Amino acid sequence: MEKKWWHHSVVYQIYPRSFYDSNNDGIGDLQGIIQKLDYIESLGADVIWLSPVYASPNDDNGYDIADYYQIMDEFGTMADMDELIAQAKQRNIKIVMDIVANHTSDEHQWFVEARKSKDNPYHDYYVWAKTPNNLRSIFSGSAWQYDEHLGEYYLHLFSKKQPDLNWTNPRVRQDIADMIIFWLEKGIGGFRFDVIDLIGKIPEQEITENGPKLHEYIKELNQKSFGRYDVLTVGETWGATIEIGEQYSNPKNNELSMIFQFEHILLDQQVDGEKWDLAPLDFIKLKQVLSKWQTELYGIGWNSLFWNNHDTPRAVSRFANDQQHRVEAAKLLATITHGMWGTPYIYQGEEIGMTNVRFDSLASYRDVETLNMYNERIKKGYSHETIMESIYTKGRDNARTPMQWNGSAYGGFSTTAPWINVNPNYETINVEQALADPNSIFNYYQQLIQLRKANDWVVYGTYRLILENDKNIFAYIRAYQEQEYLVYGNFSAQNVRFDIEELATVRREDIILSNYNETQLEQKMLQPFEAGIIKLVN
Ligand code: NOJ
Repeated sequence: MEKKWWHHSVVYQIYPRSFYDSNNDGIGDLQGIIQKLDYIESLGADVIWLSPVYASPNDDNGYDIADYYQIMDEFGTMADMDELIAQAKQRNIKIVMDIVANHTSDEHQWFVEARKSKDNPYHDYYVWAKTPNNLRSIFSGSAWQYDEHLGEYYLHLFSKKQPDLNWTNPRVRQDIADMIIFWLEKGIGGFRFDVIDLIGKIPEQEITENGPKLHEYIKELNQKSFGRYDVLTVGETWGATIEIGEQYSNPKNNELSMIFQFEHILLDQQVDGEKWDLAPLDFIKLKQVLSKWQTELYGIGWNSLFWNNHDTPRAVSRFANDQQHRVEAAKLLATITHGMWGTPYIYQGEEIGMTNVRFDSLASYRDVETLNMYNERIKKGYSHETIMESIYTKGRDNARTPMQWNGSAYGGFSTTAPWINVNPNYETINVEQALADPNSIFNYYQQLIQLRKANDWVVYGTYRLILENDKNIFAYIRAYQEQEYLVYGNFSAQNVRFDIEELATVRREDIILSNYNETQLEQKMLQPFEAGIIKLVN
């Protein structure tokens, strides 16, 4: 496999609205990010994935773009953006832009024109129907919205203010390619393509994900724009299977560098239900799913490694423990992903173990998906309490509370009340605390990242799951050039037996990293949420 710079990278995702507010209007901004670049550099990440910063009316916090060539007023100006790219570059950090091209805002000039008349040249930039079918919006209700003036319906797979673009129209595809080139010419390090698996939709047949022309469109975009630059591209693909993952990320196909697959993210919901229909996580399945992507894509494509992002609950709350064992648990999750084969993504705040939030009142919630779901389910007869439990467990605002920088008011994010409340635990969980504590989660992430940067086995080694049926332990072996390494973690709050005698004798000096200062490995025991990496010596 041809080596690529992003094989060794670790990506840090920023949700700008909630990262750092430099002008104290309650909303994060680009100058805020610039002020925190040293922090990201000190963590060791070398790529920033920036959630959308383009002009937007913010129905979906920037995932509804009104102008791809302008910066959102609340975030700053194009000059700020240029400065961010330049300042990041000085620190050897690349900026990955978020391209939302499945849909635009209804306030985008294309849609404003499209609505004027059926023979307007932009009408065919969007998807229209005389009568709606059963397609449902991912944000609740019908995916069709009636336009009185035209007497027809437009498609919106997300909110009403996010009309879907018509990718069968070559002019749409050309305009998107031109826009991507505009950003490439600014020296961008790559792109994250929002819900890219929806662009090949055939709405009249109710096909949305993985439509027949999807890969053809991606290849065309690659060939017309980013394929000519040495950049990282990652597609958001909720419906990807291994076979589809190979298609996207096999370099021979000239599509994308890698994808985000979501199989492990879809495990704690009821079969055939929505994400709000809660179900316990099947740990054995979790191991199977993640391991399948490790082994089956190996040597063919490339993996993205992540536990959470701006659309999901906080990893430590969802997959481990956000109470008594929060610190060990956060380090355990980090060990498991950062020990794997692929490119790790860290979502802002993950590196200090930020947790889910439980706001008392629905009025404190901001997310359009959450609010639409609440209204729909109340109408269907669900109780307020049941819905709130779903929101506490799965709501996207869990990930969107402001970054907790210190223990002062609003967590040091801003000096005025932020657009969404801070998680009340900011007084104990914050960056200032983490930087002062040698045993902090932040410090542990730094070590994991350095390990990856310094060792090819982390980047290129093979993967083998062991103890497949163990209900508490996630353990696997990475092998590279005759040497093996064991990555392990106990996902329970109890001491558990960890017997790896057949593999190796565990010697203290072979422990590369551990989230406990004192291990009991020699006694074949793992403590609550204990994790680590050992060099195996026979
Ligand atoms: C996926 C994005 O990550 C999410 O935040 C957004 O709401 C939808 N796509 C629609 O753009």
